[in-house]
Amino acid sequence: MRTVLVTGGNGQLGWELQRHAPDTWSLQALPHAALDITDAGQIAAALDGLRPDWVVNTAAYTAVDRAESEPRQAQAINVEGPARLAEACAARGIGFVHLSTDFVFDGRQSRPYRPDDPPNPLSVYGRTKLAGEQAVRERLGDDALIVRTSWAYSVHGHNFVKTMLRCLAERPQVDVVCDQVGTPTWAAGLARALIRAIERDVRGIGHWTDNGVASWYDFAVAIRELALQLGLLREAAPVAPIATADYPTPARRPAYSVLDKRDFQAALDLPGVHWRESLHSMMQELCHG
Ligand SMILES: NC(=O)c1ccc[n+]([C@@H]2O[C@H](COP(=O)([O-])OP(=O)(O)OC[C@H]3O[C@@H](n4cnc5c(N)ncnc54)[C@H](OP(=O)(O)O)[C@@H]3O)[C@@H](O)[C@H]2O)c1
Repeated sequence: MRTVLVTGGNGQLGWELQRHAPDTWSLQALPHAALDITDAGQIAAALDGLRPDWVVNTAAYTAVDRAESEPRQAQAINVEGPARLAEACAARGIGFVHLSTDFVFDGRQSRPYRPDDPPNPLSVYGRTKLAGEQAVRERLGDDALIVRTSWAYSVHGHNFVKTMLRCLAERPQVDVVCDQVGTPTWAAGLARALIRAIERDVRGIGHWTDNGVASWYDFAVAIRELALQLGLLREAAPVAPIATADYPTPARRPAYSVLDKRDFQAALDLPGVHWRESLHSMMQELCHG
């Protein structure tokens, strides 16, 4: 029996890990209220109480725009928290998986980012997530597994899919940026990939997203089409493409953040699923849930 402790247990990924953990695992997902990753005492108590073989840190400060005005909070949760967790895992010989983001890149590339491409984050969120990666690597080196992902969504939690469904139902027209390109990723597929990575003891830096490429506009159009097709909406507002320049946000985002997943997919022997297929599966779940 493998014992696994998941932090941020009430987030999208924490929830999906609980749903997908194999029967051969004893998985404990602790929500923020039960384990604050910025508190070294709480970390020690959790690790010494549960004595896990692995810790998966899904806890993060993920409010990308709000981070611009709350850099200290983002730093505490995205840098100091992972540093303390990594330190505690290193001291106890516990395997450590940490999640990071496509926003560590600046988006000036026009081919998918490989794990060893130079990062250059544009936002407080991206900078703190990169510093979190570095803090983990300083303490665990290649023994840690750091997985970067992008544009995550799930039936559980807050995300673009649910926001779009609300906007499509309520507004006369929905404007969505068409000049930021990346890959939507179903957190359920990401959870399965992380489980496989632990089973295979894969370490280092890996990239995992669904397959394919989309702009936020393409993503919104697909959500609209599927919502009508599956009967989640009877009517839906039209979606119009707009430029990032016409939708100013506090945080700058990369124009292109497609991740190159080939090495990690090969290490896991998992080919991945196209984002449209994943979106269909997730929206079917919404229908039944
Ligand atoms: N969502 C995306 O689009 C996306 C894209 C790229 C990378 N990622 C990365 O993937 C990972 C998982 O993301 P997600 O989508 O599952 O995020 P999420 O749904 O926002 O969940 C994050 C969880 O962390 C918890 N948390 C915040 N501060 C904490 C603390 N000090 N101690 C313990 N828990 C704390 C939050 O709880 P409260 O809400 O109760 O504070 C929340 O439940 C994160 O590392 C994120 O940076 C996400």
